[in-house]
Amino acid sequence: MAVLKIAKLGNPVLRKIAAPVDPADIRTPPFQRFIDDMFDTMYDAEGIGLAAPQVSRSQQVVVMECPGESGFPKTVLINPTILYYGPNQVESWEGCLSIDGLRGKVTRPSMVRVKGLDRYGAPVDFEATGLYAVCIQHELDHLIGKLFLDRMTDLSTLTQLEEFDHYWRKETAAVI
Ligand code: NI
Repeated sequence: MAVLKIAKLGNPVLRKIAAPVDPADIRTPPFQRFIDDMFDTMYDAEGIGLAAPQVSRSQQVVVMECPGESGFPKTVLINPTILYYGPNQVESWEGCLSIDGLRGKVTRPSMVRVKGLDRYGAPVDFEATGLYAVCIQHELDHLIGKLFLDRMTDLSTLTQLEEFDHYWRKETAAVI
């Protein structure tokens, strides 16, 4: 169990295309430990999602968990692909563990169907809606070198944390 160092905005690893994981590696103790370390790092930073490039490992692994949010199970996705985007869009506040102190509104499809491998290498294929769908899209963006800032169509909503808490305190932001 270890808390890993989080790569911050400006670190080139956040802009790289992450490599697929060799399925033969998934069940090995070092890889399983890495997944546990990713969860520990995410909990320590109080986020609900973390992608491996955010801990300077350019591989297609993401972890997500949001206790108390219905329809949002604890999730590990390896080598994920989005198969389908729903027709409706949803706008929500996002933050990122690699971008300190900023929140911004991002519009994304409200539903996605995603496939990949779970933490034991078993295939998964499921649909997600709500915060879970937003989190999946944010995390998968990290695997192609994209940050939520790149997805903002209106930079005028970009907000520093103190101002967010002051002016938008009734709203919540997903920190992923
Ligand atoms: Ni992020």
